[in-house]
Formats: sequence, structure tokens, C-alpha cells
Amino acid sequence: MIKEHTTMTRKILVTSALPYANGSIHLGHMVEHIQTDIWVRFQKMRGHECYYCCADDTHGTPVMLAAQKQGIAPEDMIARVREEHLADFSGFGIGYDNYYSTHSPENKAYSEKIYRALKANGKIESRTIEQLFDPEKNMFLPDRFVKGECPKCHAKDQYGDNCEVCGTTYAPTDLINPYSAISGATPVLKESEHFFFKLGDCIDYLQEWTAGSTTLADGRVQPHLQPEALNKMKEWLVPDENGEGGLSDWDISRDAPYFGFEIPDAPGKYFYVWLDAPVGYMASFKNLCERIGVDFDEFFKADSEAELYHFIGKDILYFHALFWPAMLKFSGHRAPTGVFAHGFLTVDGQKMSKSRGTFITAGSYLEQKLNPEWMRYYIAAKLGSRIEDIDLNLQDFIARVNSDLVGKYVNIAARASGFIAKRFEGRLKDVSHSALLAQLAAQSETIAADYENREYARALRDIMALADAVNEYVDANKPWDLAK
Ligand code: MSP
Ligand code: ZN
Repeated sequence: MIKEHTTMTRKILVTSALPYANGSIHLGHMVEHIQTDIWVRFQKMRGHECYYCCADDTHGTPVMLAAQKQGIAPEDMIARVREEHLADFSGFGIGYDNYYSTHSPENKAYSEKIYRALKANGKIESRTIEQLFDPEKNMFLPDRFVKGECPKCHAKDQYGDNCEVCGTTYAPTDLINPYSAISGATPVLKESEHFFFKLGDCIDYLQEWTAGSTTLADGRVQPHLQPEALNKMKEWLVPDENGEGGLSDWDISRDAPYFGFEIPDAPGKYFYVWLDAPVGYMASFKNLCERIGVDFDEFFKADSEAELYHFIGKDILYFHALFWPAMLKFSGHRAPTGVFAHGFLTVDGQKMSKSRGTFITAGSYLEQKLNPEWMRYYIAAKLGSRIEDIDLNLQDFIARVNSDLVGKYVNIAARASGFIAKRFEGRLKDVSHSALLAQLAAQSETIAADYENREYARALRDIMALADAVNEYVDANKPWDLAK
């Protein structure tokens, strides 16, 4: 719970996960950016120094191949996609302080800086590994780009990491009759030197950080992870009785051809996209700092008192709750104050699907001339602080917007504006001593605490109850009669 509204100004940096630059923004992404945007607007309204940074995540094999398919340079494709993404997000009223790109000089500089620091700290190791290689395309194949027959149930055309028919997970080398999803060629095993981040060496720190919390300047205690996330981490951090699980070292390099940043002193080796992606948060913020004159180091130095929060989906917790804090800590930076994971958006109770027609892009929503505020309201009315999926049901969406937004909230203005305009020249008298207003104002700190704790659904329930109270007051007092 937050205390009385203090005059102390907090320094807060907030991010949403960086969307991949090879796809359109859909309503699932929008859940995250709406959740973040509401929180940031709340912090700014409270007078805090709060910045909201995001960017497109531009590197990696899928982006490289998508550009090749379109017959354009990856640089051109990511520039085009960024414009599209920006149009979608601004269409939904998302108010970033900066929306940048991971393909930027700042990101290159910080990725190298962090890598060099980790290396100097003894946290990087090189090892030769064997991997499937496409002899026609002349490139190593990421797991998702190898297909073949499932070794367990013998279903055909399964991906190299798991079978969609029987759910078994395996290595791409376990597939029967494997083929390259890019060229169709039969892959061969080939050796290559890779760089690993020795996460196993960071386990003590990660156990402490994941279970830990930060005491904020206003005295509140902010746990680094949500309880459900912490449970997941415990599973991942501690091997079970069969020695399964536990933290293995993380392969952070990829061989050319790759669209990304070349690793210093390692020609032909590139940072794996997930190495430079979270660094993209820093890069976006650095770019903002240079533009508006904010001290970047105040936010990222090891003993920083600024707050750093990442809003993400539950699927990328591993990266944000283990890899990223370790990267920051062992390169001499601060770790996040909080990682806030949300569940997935489903449509009519199921995963969004192109074939069922339930894959709704942000662009298609806006093209239908549907009001983005309706979706913002609907999503907010379903969001809480826990990692729970939220369902978009179109009937429920319509009902909710009609009953709450139109029937209760907008109704107040609709009922009052007529006679105020007609009889009072659009002006209100001094209402500061109104009992009704006092009743509304009395709720403000409770509602503020709910926003602070990301309990938007609860905040909106309280707000709608107040809208009911106002409507009842109007019903009882019939101001249009009084006005006569
Ligand atoms: N590029 C990475 C993130 C790098 S962050 C340093 C990525 N991109 S993504 O485009 O696949 O997803 C971006 C965000 O959208 C993630 O937080 C992901 O969880 C979220 N969502 C993607 N589909 C979603 C739903 N259906 N519902 C809610 N969030 C979803 O992962
Ligand atoms: Zn199978």
C-alpha cells in the first residue's frame, strides 16, 4: 500500500518487451503496452520522473530470412516495420518517451561494453560445439529451422525442438530424416566455436536476486519477482533428483551469416539476438537521455537508487529473471527493481489463430474504426498483478463497453452537458464543498494504490462503483428540473 501522497519524486525507468521486427503488432502485444502505458501515465500523474522506453527487436535469423524473402536489405525491412509498429502503438495511445531500435549505435556500444565486462570478469568461455548445418544455404540452422519426423510418435514435418503432435521435446539431431526448412537440403553436423555466458557461476547471486526485494525510497518493499514467477525460477535454478533442470551455460554467439552485431575480436561470430535485445532497453534510454539531457548513469550505475521495471509476457521470464539480471550485475550495473510478467491474451478462450480468424492485428482493429479506448478499457478491466491469461470474448467486449463506458461513465457527461450548456453557458459553479465530490475524492488513495500495484481490474471496479453513485445522485436530484 502506498502512504499518503508524498512530495518525494521517484526516478523510474519502465519498459515493455521489444517486439520482433518480422511481424505485425497484434492484440496480444497490445495487452502488454496498454498495461505498461497505464502504469507509466499513473506514475507521471503522481509527479514522478518516469520514462517509458521501448524499441523494435531487429536481429536474428528470422528477421534475416524474412528480409531475404522480400528481396530487400534487413536494414530496409526493419525501418519499414518500425514505422508500422509505431503507427499501431500510437493509434492505441501508447505514450513512449522513446521507441527506438536494437539496430543502433548505442545498442552496439552497450552490447560490446557488457560483453567485454563479462569477459574480464571470467564469465565468458569458448567451446567447440556440433550443430546442424545447411550445406546448400551454407549456414548453421537454428532448431526451429530443422524439420523432420518425430523420434517418438513418428509424426512428419515436426520442428527441431519439440513435436506439436505428441509434445515431446528433443534436440534437432534426434529427428528422423531431418531437412532444412529453408532449402530442403539434408543437414550435416558441423563443428564451430561458440561463446558461452557461464550462468552456472552466477547461481548464488541469482538465487538471492530472484527471491529478493528492493526497499524503495518511500519505504515500500518491492519484490523483484511475482510469487508465481519466483516459483518457476526455483524450478529452473535447482536441479531435480534426476539432475534435470538447473542452470546451464548460455550460448551467446551465432555464426555468419547472421543479422546482428559482430562480437569484438571474433570475426564471423555474432551476438545471439537475445544478448543484445535486453541491452536495447538501455540503448533506447541512452538515446533519450542524450536528447533531453538526463543522466544515464544515475539509472544504470551499480548503486543506482532509480527504479527499473520491465513489463513482459510470461513466455520470456527466463530471459528477464535470470539472464538479464546476471548480465547487468556481472558487468558492473544495477539489476532490475521489478520484472512484471503478464499472462497471454486468448480470443474466445483459445490461443489466437490465423486459421480460426482470431489473430487480430492492431492495424486491423484500427482500420475497422473501432475506438482504441474501448480496447484499452476492456483490457485494463481484466488486468491484475498476477500472471493470468486474459480472454477477449467479443460478446463480452461489446457488453462491457456498452454497460460500463457508455452506460455509466460517459452517461454522466451526456446527462449533464445538455442543460449545463443550455442554461449555464457551459460553466459549473464552485462545487468544492459538494458531499458527492468528497465521497469520490475519499477513494482516491485506495484507487491510486491499486494502480501502483497493477490491480487495474480492482481500480476500475471501484471507479465504476463511483460512476454508479454519481448516476444515482443525478437520478435522485434531477438537475435538469432544478435548472428550470
Ligand atoms: N523480441 C522478444 C522480446 C525481447 S525483450 C528484450 C519477443 N518479442 S515478441 O514480439 O514475440 O513478443 C513481445 C511481447 O509480447 C512479449 O512480452 C510477449 O510475451 C508478448 N506477447 C506476445 N503474444 C502475446 C499474447 N498473445 N498475449 C500477451 N502477450 C503476448 O518476445
Ligand atoms: Zn511426436
